[in-house]
Amino acid sequence: MSADAALANRVAKNARHLGRWARREGLAAWRVYDRDIPEFPYAVDRYGEWLHVQLFEGRRALEDDAIEAHLAALAQALEVPRERVAFKQRRRQRGLAQYEKLAARGAPFVVGERDLRFEVDLLSYLDTGLFLDHRETRARVRAEAAGKRVLNLFAYTGSFSVYAAAGGAAQTVSVDLSQTYQAWTQRNLALNGFDDAQRHRLVQADVTRWLEAARRAGERFDLVVLDPPSFSNSKRMQDSFDVQRDHVGLVEQALALLAPGGALYFSNNRQGFRLDPGLAARHACVDITAETIPPDFARRRPHQCWRIVAATGNSPASPWTKAKTRRESSRS
Ligand SMILES: C[S@@+](CC[C@H](N)C(=O)[O-])C[C@H]1O[C@@H](n2cnc3c(N)ncnc32)[C@H](O)[C@@H]1O
Repeated sequence: MSADAALANRVAKNARHLGRWARREGLAAWRVYDRDIPEFPYAVDRYGEWLHVQLFEGRRALEDDAIEAHLAALAQALEVPRERVAFKQRRRQRGLAQYEKLAARGAPFVVGERDLRFEVDLLSYLDTGLFLDHRETRARVRAEAAGKRVLNLFAYTGSFSVYAAAGGAAQTVSVDLSQTYQAWTQRNLALNGFDDAQRHRLVQADVTRWLEAARRAGERFDLVVLDPPSFSNSKRMQDSFDVQRDHVGLVEQALALLAPGGALYFSNNRQGFRLDPGLAARHACVDITAETIPPDFARRRPHQCWRIVAATGNSPASPWTKAKTRRESSRS
């Protein structure tokens, strides 16, 4: 059997198995293959009638001819025309580059996820508009959202906000720095019939600054979703952001906005991420990663996720708030 045939066989087998599950679940977008065979370091996602293929470069770069043969084999095995295979080379990179526009040739289309609909664009950016690994996390938020005030931080295209709205949230607030993604969030909300702008607010802002302002204004939420990028150093931000280095302050800031009885979902995709032990000691942090990984991502866990309840409540007596207040007052 040729090497390309081994790849084709594996994806066809995965597709038969997972395809039945995806149909049953009403999913138009799901992961077919995730670096199962080391010689073929691709992640292959089906998005409706398209494939989204990402090559994760290792130490040895693949020749262009080999890549082209692999893409042809994938297209054939999954019965998708080669022109409908969006291909990206995923290098380890930091910050803005990850979210920059790739080309102006994107053709957005809509995919269904259970009873909800989302706009995706496989060609214009490195990411597609819908992070498939958080499908179950979204479902959890929906199941808990009825009557609640839901805050979605680093909202990206607003898929968590759509799920919260579908779950009957009293209010959603989606905060993101990017105008492009805020507009996308608005389209996703509207696609699902949630176009009441009073009830589903969009805020274009730096999350850290916005959280500080919201705390001062006494805003409160019952459910907060905090899914920051691993790294970020956007032009609009003063400082760079590194989730490992900066998560303690960010999580504390977000917890400070929780109403009594509220909960925070914190997740990120940084490989090898470790939750700060102090944070885990101060608050009730439950690692729910296993429950939030869908079957099509079971081979490799792309994210970690915690459900956090502020054990100390939101009185200014929490140790972090006290320390911060002290620093602030000593500066002035
Ligand atoms: C949702 S995160 C990506 C999360 C995903 N788990 C990952 O690691 O790729 C990406 C979003 O964060 C937004 N973003 C990055 N830095 C930000 C900041 N300081 N304030 C608000 N939004 C920010 C970007 O605009 C983008 O929509």
